[in-house]
Amino acid sequence: MSAGASPDERGPLRAVPTFHPAAAGVRTAPVGTRERPLPLIIDSDPGLDDALAIGLACASPEVRLLAVTTVGGNADVAHCTENALRLLHAYGRDDVPVAEGAPGALLGDVVRATEVHGVSGVGDTHLPTAPTAPRPEGAVALMARLLAESPEPVAIAPIGPLTNIALLLRAHPRLAARIAHLCLMGGSIGEGNTTAAAEFNILADPEAADVVFRSGVPITMVGLDVTHQALLDRSSARALRELGTASGRIAAELADYALDRALERSGTATMAVHDAVAVAHLIVPDLVAVAPYHVAVETGHGPARGRTVCDGLPHRLRRLGLVPNADVGIVIDRGRFERLLLDAYARLP
Ligand code: RIB
Ligand code: CA
Repeated sequence: MSAGASPDERGPLRAVPTFHPAAAGVRTAPVGTRERPLPLIIDSDPGLDDALAIGLACASPEVRLLAVTTVGGNADVAHCTENALRLLHAYGRDDVPVAEGAPGALLGDVVRATEVHGVSGVGDTHLPTAPTAPRPEGAVALMARLLAESPEPVAIAPIGPLTNIALLLRAHPRLAARIAHLCLMGGSIGEGNTTAAAEFNILADPEAADVVFRSGVPITMVGLDVTHQALLDRSSARALRELGTASGRIAAELADYALDRALERSGTATMAVHDAVAVAHLIVPDLVAVAPYHVAVETGHGPARGRTVCDGLPHRLRRLGLVPNADVGIVIDRGRFERLLLDAYARLP
């Protein structure tokens, strides 16, 4: 369509991002198998998509879920903790300990996403009460104990703000070597979702994210570039409901609530299951294609606060004396991802 056409004739304009092609990389994240399940801690702010990520982990023999720790993010941390307990109960996993972590960021204002997830963090869904309670030691102490006690290094999937992870690294620097990998949902090579510059989990605590990306711990950054391809729609919610299970009904309700918000806020008919991509990457070796980038976090207080500045261009990295510090997710097969999720929920009670 020529530039001379009228706006009505042109239709919506989509700015073409100036992404520079990063060389496809070999994944550095470990992947679990049925024979050798990957020990995993999920740090989360449940959260609609967090709930689906936790369900995927509970249903996957490729991971051994050691704990779910909570952080304030989508909702206040008390809601997130109660949601984690109740989700694990619904999924038949009262055996997985829950411990509450930071209510808010290391510095800066509290950032919430209740307009997306509801004040409760799980929309309008009523989750049955869990018989369990959070561990009194708290998130950082529980993570530290599990890392120290595990016979092998433990993978951590942070799928909320990175406050707990930064506190863990600062309080227990010697345990960094016991972290097999941080497969985190957060950031974006391109635009943000909460501001034009920043994705929610990073914006909610940029200083914590800066500590994590500078830590030297192996990282996969599952950002919006790939999670915006990991979509469910109304037919997905219907398929979850048709499983005829309590877990399937819960997932369908959460998905429908997210789909309603997406339609209201941006007129789209799909929901991105951001957090489940971080878990899926640790379960399926070839689902997410990644590329090596140097990722830096903007911690200033201007309009770019919370931006993940991702550089994958070899000549620029050389000129700036930078080396990649993360694999960044680039591509995912939407159909395979949806089937992985539906098959997992078919295994839940
Ligand atoms: O930007 C998406 C992230 O923010 C996801 O983790 C979602 O749960 C919200 O916390
Ligand atoms: Ca989350």
